[in-house]
Amino acid sequence: MSMVRAEKVTKVYRKGGVEIRPLDGVDLEVEPGEFVCLMGPSGSGKTTLLNLVAGIDRPTSGRVFVGEDEVSAMSETALAGWRTRSIGYIFQLYNLIPVLTARENVELPLLLLPMSRKARKKHVETALSAVSLLDRAAHYPRQLSGGQEQRVAIARAIVTDPKVIVADEPTGDLDAASGEEILDLLAALRREFGKTLLMVTHSPRAAEHAGRVVHLDKGLIRPAAEPAAAGKGQT
Ligand SMILES: Nc1ncnc2c1ncn2[C@@H]1O[C@H](COP(=O)(O)OP(=O)(O)OP(=O)(O)O)[C@@H](O)[C@H]1O
Ligand SMILES: [Mg+2]
Repeated sequence: MSMVRAEKVTKVYRKGGVEIRPLDGVDLEVEPGEFVCLMGPSGSGKTTLLNLVAGIDRPTSGRVFVGEDEVSAMSETALAGWRTRSIGYIFQLYNLIPVLTARENVELPLLLLPMSRKARKKHVETALSAVSLLDRAAHYPRQLSGGQEQRVAIARAIVTDPKVIVADEPTGDLDAASGEEILDLLAALRREFGKTLLMVTHSPRAAEHAGRVVHLDKGLIRPAAEPAAAGKGQT
């Protein structure tokens, strides 16, 4: 069974009499433990699709499944808890809370779950050590480099041990070396922890880390293609 499945998904935005239809019948299947890269021109609906998979937004029509859960059919109340447990979301600009330390930022999602202080501490330490930042736990975002901030954001995304990680241009704001580090880390999450990854990027180099690239254009997913350096992310 696929880990992420979009069936005939459309998304229509209406604003001031104008209709925008970024997604117009998208079908996508991502297998468990796959690292899929989503590419496409600006405005082609990449972020929109990630948000539908993450249960942040709802399709106008069509259905979205993550594992056995039909995300597009869940109530808002059910979605809140589901999202915390099931999806790790990584953003281009990290979205860390500036007045919280790295440790506190990573702990945040756990506060939404029933979990003891002790268990939270253990989870936070596991996540921070997975991104090699245990030694920076007490630092605030402004005391970290962009690459380190993104690693904290990755720790926050994996701290609840979600099966699916979605990343929206996670290296878009980083220099080449820090970007490579982040991509290696994402590939390791798949390889070592069996995470399923769906990553949006504009960078063909970033796409090389994925096992499969799909293109979104004019509201549709174009047939799957192998990345240039095929399989680098899936070995
Ligand atoms: N909440 C909204 N209300 C109205 N229109 C929206 C909304 N969110 C997105 N759109 C429109 O939907 C289209 C797709 O947006 P989306 O953010 O998914 O594109 P994208 O592929 O992620 O682009 P980029 O590469 O620039 O990030 C755009 O035309 C955008 O203006
Ligand atoms: Mg976007």
